[in-house]
Amino acid sequence: MKKATSPAEVGRILSDVRRKGLSIGLVPTMGALHEGHLSLVRMSLARSDYTVVSIFVNPRQFGESEDLDKYPRTEESDSKLLEELGCDLLFAPVAGSLYSDADRTRVSVSSLGDHLCGASRPGHFDGVLLVVAKLFNMIRPEHAFFGQKDAQQAVIVQRMAADLDYPVRIFIGPTVREEDGLAMSSRNRNLSREKRSKAPGIRTGLLEAAEAIIKGERDASILKMKISDRMTAAGFKIDYVECVDGGTLQPVQSVEGTILLAAAGKLGSTRLIDNIALKVGPEGATETLLEFPGWSRYER
Ligand code: PAF
Repeated sequence: MKKATSPAEVGRILSDVRRKGLSIGLVPTMGALHEGHLSLVRMSLARSDYTVVSIFVNPRQFGESEDLDKYPRTEESDSKLLEELGCDLLFAPVAGSLYSDADRTRVSVSSLGDHLCGASRPGHFDGVLLVVAKLFNMIRPEHAFFGQKDAQQAVIVQRMAADLDYPVRIFIGPTVREEDGLAMSSRNRNLSREKRSKAPGIRTGLLEAAEAIIKGERDASILKMKISDRMTAAGFKIDYVECVDGGTLQPVQSVEGTILLAAAGKLGSTRLIDNIALKVGPEGATETLLEFPGWSRYER
């Protein structure tokens, strides 16, 4: 596995790869890799000739009071895991090589980033989009891989890629879970033993709401109540519990079509998020991924 730490270095390595006509897959990460990330790397290895994983704890997507300094950094073990999987290139830039104080350009996707996680993390998605746009420009991948666990991010990135005509196909990987259902997250390691035992409450609430939909419930307020009750009982301080349209991310009153049940809350000082996306029709409801290949002109 090759390693690059600057855009110039990555450009040199990838111009060679492109000359050979190889397709490039990108898995953008902030490191502290877990099975969720590794499943995306495997997806890339299966679909692309050459896989690039970026590791960059992006300061622009953290608010002032957020956990940038606390964010786990495990470079050596990450690099070992990627090497073992067969990743071709690890791009781990230092912040100074991506940003300067003179930067003035912002990337935002209107309306999609304002609520859900955007409401309590103002500017977060602009920071995500800025770094993802930069990575797409530097790496020029044919394929890029994001996890459904960050569903709002997955939708917003697909919208940006389609709107700005990035010639990349975005793939969404299913959420990978611990045995007790807790979605894997780099932040889980910050939970105390006691909080960790309560953490699956967020998944249980979402599952109960999904089961209610499968049994015929369509009223979003009843579904949200089920999730909130479960989370409160587990000790979460709720940030939001929402039932939104899977494409526009706008709240719905009644569930129909592709919808997303999404929740976020704090257990102690650790913020956890989770979601379930469902395709709901007259015949019933099935779990789905928020992947919209039809949005882009560049399906491959
Ligand atoms: O999902 C993440 O880890 C980050 O938001 C991403 C996409 C790597 C951008 O920094």
